[in-house]
Amino acid sequence: MTTSKNSFGVFMLQMMVLSLLITLQAEGQGLKVGFYEKTCPHAEKIVSDVIKEVMAVAPSLSGPLLRMHFHDCFIRGCDGSVLLDSPTRQSEKYAPPNLSLRGFNIIDRVKLALEKACPGLVSCADIVALVARDVTVETKGPFWEVETGRRDGKVSLFSDPINPVTGLISFASNITTLKQKFALRGLSTKDLVVLSGGHTIGMSHCTSFESRLYNFTGKGDTDPTMDPNYIARLKLKCKPNDQTTLAELDPGSFKTFDDSYYKLVTKRRGLLESDAALLNDRETKAYLVQATSHGSTFFKDFGVSMVNMGRIGVLTGSQGEIRKVCSKAN
Ligand code: HEM
Ligand SMILES: *[C@@H]1O[C@H](CO)[C@@H](O)[C@H](O)[C@H]1NC(C)=O
Ligand SMILES: *[C@@H]1O[C@H](CO)[C@@H](O)[C@H](O)[C@H]1NC(C)=O
Ligand SMILES: *[C@@H]1O[C@H](CO)[C@@H](O)[C@H](O)[C@H]1NC(C)=O
Repeated sequence: MTTSKNSFGVFMLQMMVLSLLITLQAEGQGLKVGFYEKTCPHAEKIVSDVIKEVMAVAPSLSGPLLRMHFHDCFIRGCDGSVLLDSPTRQSEKYAPPNLSLRGFNIIDRVKLALEKACPGLVSCADIVALVARDVTVETKGPFWEVETGRRDGKVSLFSDPINPVTGLISFASNITTLKQKFALRGLSTKDLVVLSGGHTIGMSHCTSFESRLYNFTGKGDTDPTMDPNYIARLKLKCKPNDQTTLAELDPGSFKTFDDSYYKLVTKRRGLLESDAALLNDRETKAYLVQATSHGSTFFKDFGVSMVNMGRIGVLTGSQGEIRKVCSKAN
């Protein structure tokens, strides 16, 4: 009796230490919801007001602005390094996989408004995270509480996005590579399939899927995993070697954040190979079905996974800096 009581006590103690460790780790991240509550109480309202204005006149920027947070977080962590400019074009935004990354001037506009209200307090990395949430809401997607408290990095290298291991993920990636590259950043297979749902809005250059239409294995063939009717339609839009034309990632509702991306992927109409790859894994495939079912949890899941993504490699506390201008280290 005594022994079992004792071991129960030891067990409880272990659990307490464990939960303390987990708490410390979570706090060690230094991020929290409402980080600016005391120092800049209107920070989040200022961001969302600018985004509402922008979306009213330039709704096509919702895609690039959501994608910007993804590109920021996957390279050097969510530290605003994607925003840094370089007179010699040597920063990460100039590296090739940036296709159509745009909206930098919108981030600058938000920053200007924030500097007016509370100079030197709100980081550019946090702005990118808040803007990603706000464009999602403006396109009728879910709202989630964004953790803030990130600080800005001072380094941005052309070589980072093109690094084969830690760089950006190619649109031609198979499911194994996709899962690996997410895992490398502490993200799960569920995060992968949920965040791929970001492709419910926005556009892609023909170059990102051209080989699926014309020269899949170098023999002038098409991608056998893509719906042939869809291939025929895309061929009308994208001629070989077309560098400029854009196609909707989620045709029919590319301005609306909804579950139709998952319907398309299930019907073998995912635009990118990385979208189609979600059919090649038991867990991600099951999610495609779940996300379009009556009890879909996609909207709730998206917020959770965006928070997870927003934690990648963050600088907090006294690390990094709060940039005065988002395109330049202080
Ligand atoms: C899973 C790995 C991913 C790959 C391989 C990938 C790849 C791509 C590619 C190739 C494009 C088209 C770029 C172009 O040709 O102009 C694109 C667009 C886009 N991606 Fe992803 N992506 C991934 C994950 C994500 C995530 C996690 C998000 C955000 C949650 C996201 C959001 C977007 C959006 C919104 C667009 C449209 C951009 C626009 O309208 O300009 N993507 N992605
Ligand atoms: C993207 O990369 C290309 C190729 O390096 C570069 O010419 C272009 O200016 C970059 N785009 C942006 C928005 O920085
Ligand atoms: C997935 O892609 C990687 C990298 O291109 C390759 O090494 C691997 O063999 C591929 N895996 C499968 C199952 O096709
Ligand atoms: C298809 O790809 C192969 C191998 O990469 C290349 O030699 C060939 O010229 C390409 N054909 C066309 C029509 O682009």
